[in-house]
Amino acid sequence: MSKHKIIVLVGGISMNSLNQKLFDFFKKEAASALEFDQFDIKALPFYSQDIENNPPAVAVDFKNRVAASDGALFVTPEYNRSFPGVLKNAIDWASRPYGHNLWTGKPAYIIGTSPGAIGTFGAQSQLRLVLSFLDLKLLNQPECYFTFPKELEGGKLPSPAKDFVKLCATKFAEWVANSASK
Ligand SMILES: Cc1cc2nc3c(=O)[nH]c(=O)nc-3n(C[C@H](O)[C@H](O)[C@H](O)COP(=O)(O)O)c2cc1C
Repeated sequence: MSKHKIIVLVGGISMNSLNQKLFDFFKKEAASALEFDQFDIKALPFYSQDIENNPPAVAVDFKNRVAASDGALFVTPEYNRSFPGVLKNAIDWASRPYGHNLWTGKPAYIIGTSPGAIGTFGAQSQLRLVLSFLDLKLLNQPECYFTFPKELEGGKLPSPAKDFVKLCATKFAEWVANSASK
């Protein structure tokens, strides 16, 4: 059976993004069931209605890849108790023009980590609102956020965080498979 294809948006765009590292672990855990297509969201220009009907090639590529996906994964840092604007910009691109929302019905999941005690809960709760409006089918449990362990800076993810990420990856793979069979 072919793997389900997942479009991936990582909201941390710094060279040493901890959320990119988190995604790299998540990806390994789900690799037997899911094929991940990470789009470099910082390559997109700011969305504007002035260009939505004649988008630049990079936005066309992004929209084609969202349309071709069987599901979506959003990996978010927390910026001021919300999710980064660069992530919202990408989400907006694939939601427009009005009436052509490419996110509709896709099984989706949010994961994230931050240094704060609430480990991206604030970011995820705000992102959840946007994704619900855009009619993605969000996996609600397990809520995949945690304060990052220091080792993640060096590219290591110790247990129990590692076990938790593995559980999250397994549940998301099941969620996508179940959605596809309906
Ligand atoms: C503008 C800004 C706002 C931030 N706000 C929060 C916050 O509300 N809560 C939190 O836990 N961390 C906050 N942080 C710290 C980030 O979570 C931390 O820098 C994290 O490593 C960013 O994710 P990344 O490494 O994937 O880029 C903020 C960082 C920046 C740059």
